[in-house]
Amino acid sequence: MEMDIRRQFQQYFGKEYQLTAAPGRVNLIGEHTDYNQGFVLPAAIDRNIWLAMAPNNENRLNVRALEYHENYSFLLDDMHPVKGWPTYLLGMIYMIMPEHRLPLGMDVVVTGNVPVGAGMSSSAALCSAFGLALNEFFHLALSRLELALAGQKTEHQFANLQCGIMDQFASLQGKAGHLIKLDCRNMEYEYIPFNFPDIRLILVNSMVSHSLASSEYNLRRQQCDAGVAILRNYDSDIHSLRDVGTDLLETHRKELDDTVYKRCHFIVGENQRLQAGCDFLKQNDLDAFGKLMYASHEGLSKDYAVSCQESDFLVSTIKDMKGVKGARQMGGGFGGCIITLVEKDSAEIFISDIQSAYEKKYRRIPDCYSTIISEGAHIVQPLAEL
Ligand code: GLA
Repeated sequence: MEMDIRRQFQQYFGKEYQLTAAPGRVNLIGEHTDYNQGFVLPAAIDRNIWLAMAPNNENRLNVRALEYHENYSFLLDDMHPVKGWPTYLLGMIYMIMPEHRLPLGMDVVVTGNVPVGAGMSSSAALCSAFGLALNEFFHLALSRLELALAGQKTEHQFANLQCGIMDQFASLQGKAGHLIKLDCRNMEYEYIPFNFPDIRLILVNSMVSHSLASSEYNLRRQQCDAGVAILRNYDSDIHSLRDVGTDLLETHRKELDDTVYKRCHFIVGENQRLQAGCDFLKQNDLDAFGKLMYASHEGLSKDYAVSCQESDFLVSTIKDMKGVKGARQMGGGFGGCIITLVEKDSAEIFISDIQSAYEKKYRRIPDCYSTIISEGAHIVQPLAEL
């Protein structure tokens, strides 16, 4: 991949370039907690978006995506949301460049192996790769947190997804061999070693990428806020579901609409599972951690209603398979990948068994990715000084 983009940039634009890479992410537990100011436990993985970039003198941003065989060209003074993936590039320019525009034209080539719509945050990886590229090239001196926040704003304003900060943060702050326990209220974080040489982290792609995902996602956010607005009447220290405990929620259950109650119930429980899960990981107790993953999936499916038939089928089938410690749907939901912890010696047979079980039911072979926890976004090759 990295070689392809190097060759293609040279062939297509015929000049020197700067190359950046930004990874997709996994999240071990703590789903939909980020925009509720709770905790998440993501990690960057060994799948990246690579972005090659060099200046031009055309007053245009020319972009080319190798996988899609697509080319676009935008005037520099016209950064507004567009359909499709270039919106993330335009959004990042708008968010981080002075006066919301590029001071000179740029040629950009993008490639990657983070599957799109699989819950592995390909869009956050694209924003991070481009943000890092602009930051370096124009000496903007923005911190990684500022770049992550710009990526999040880009999702909000250029892609209409009211997402939290987890994906961008993980892509930019990932550390090889470590999970990031991030407190999304104050952005404090702790690296937790994920040092289990006998375990493989396998993502099983449900191959479902739900078209309603972003409107449903935004609706979940509103439902959580509706719960907070009511519960706050009983404790003015409540600013988000992060501040709500089980007792308070149960005491006022009757005052909440049933759907709102279920959403709140999931988030309150998920934050508790994450805290307990981190303790189990530190004690090397993957059996106990795995049970929390199943409980997380159950909540995502029943209370938060962001799963789908295919994901539920995969998790319940995986649960009975040999060598599996835990599994659950990962990311925004409505499909995407099932993150699974599998013993190394069972990994190969696990993949072939789950592929054939799924194929038998849905007549499609699910892609499976064995992933390694890796470094966050980085400059692969700088360009000589301007
Ligand atoms: C998407 C969003 C994240 C997070 C997850 C669910 O990946 O981008 O901010 O909310 O869904 O945990």
